[in-house]
Amino acid sequence: NGVNSSGNGSVEVPRVRPRRLRTTPAMRRLVAETRLHPAELILPAFVREGIAEPVPVTSMPGVVQHTRDTLRKAAAEAVAAGVGGIMLYGVPLVKDAVGSAGTDPDGILQVAIRDVKSEVGDELVVMSDLCLDESTDHGHCGVLDTRGRVDNDATLERYAEMARVQADAGVDMVGPSGMMDGQVAVVRDALDAAGHQDVAVLAYTAKYASAFFGPFREAVASSLRGDRKTYQQDPANARESMRELALDLAEGADVVMVKPAMPYLDILRQVADAVDVPVAAYQVSGEYAMIEAAAANGWIDRDRTIMETLLGIRRAGAGQVLTYWATEVAGRLREEF
Ligand code: PBG
Repeated sequence: NGVNSSGNGSVEVPRVRPRRLRTTPAMRRLVAETRLHPAELILPAFVREGIAEPVPVTSMPGVVQHTRDTLRKAAAEAVAAGVGGIMLYGVPLVKDAVGSAGTDPDGILQVAIRDVKSEVGDELVVMSDLCLDESTDHGHCGVLDTRGRVDNDATLERYAEMARVQADAGVDMVGPSGMMDGQVAVVRDALDAAGHQDVAVLAYTAKYASAFFGPFREAVASSLRGDRKTYQQDPANARESMRELALDLAEGADVVMVKPAMPYLDILRQVADAVDVPVAAYQVSGEYAMIEAAAANGWIDRDRTIMETLLGIRRAGAGQVLTYWATEVAGRLREEF
């Protein structure tokens, strides 16, 4: 009597019901396309020279500048939770125009690499930020020319030296994050020339001049005035990321990354569709702060929001995700297994 179909193709009572696959947790689990796993999470961690106790980063509740000692503990906890990697940032006591601490074999980052490496061995991929901004008194990611502009090629020489000292300290993967032209090639060559062929390069392929890096500047005690718009990418542009991608691959990148994550999921998808190397994404400090702040006000469900953002980043094409929640989330995932 025409209950199921009017006969002209329009359905009155649905025969096709997508909701059938959403009925129970077991059904939803069975058909889930994307899953999170602790091993693909990378924990960014800050270590500050000359402090006796960890210093909370106010704009990132739950994140601290570590002492050497608490950094070791955080690395051990990450291992216990099954986290895949740790990305280290050093905050030196003394900053200067050329970021000398970054190339000092006894600089805080190099010391931290050795500490963490001796704590975790090969159980965690140990990574280090290869950039000058944590060590320069002007806060820029490179050295400046006489007119105060960031000097690309002079900076590359500093990066080559940083690559050598970080590799000598035992790092597994370096992350050149300064957005200088030619940085991946220079770092790769420096590593190879120093006999560090096995040290991998995580390329900051698409890194945007983003307001979402705000809280990070507090975390590394940055003295930056102004912005990084002459070297980081314009948020208006997508094609430029594909150009950066081609360059990084040609220069020998082992892993490519998109950063920040959430406002750039379209870029992440485009990059993931284009390459045959692992693609990482960085859920940056501002993304973290935003969710913690809203949750602290009772405006969103913190735990669900965190999982949803990570799932979204994975679904958009990231194989690895840097997130300040790495250890916590890994622990939670383990309970679910
Ligand atoms: C540069 C660097 C930055 C971040 C990672 N590496 C800061 C910047 O480019 O301004 C930001 C990470 C974050 O916001 O969580 N060394």
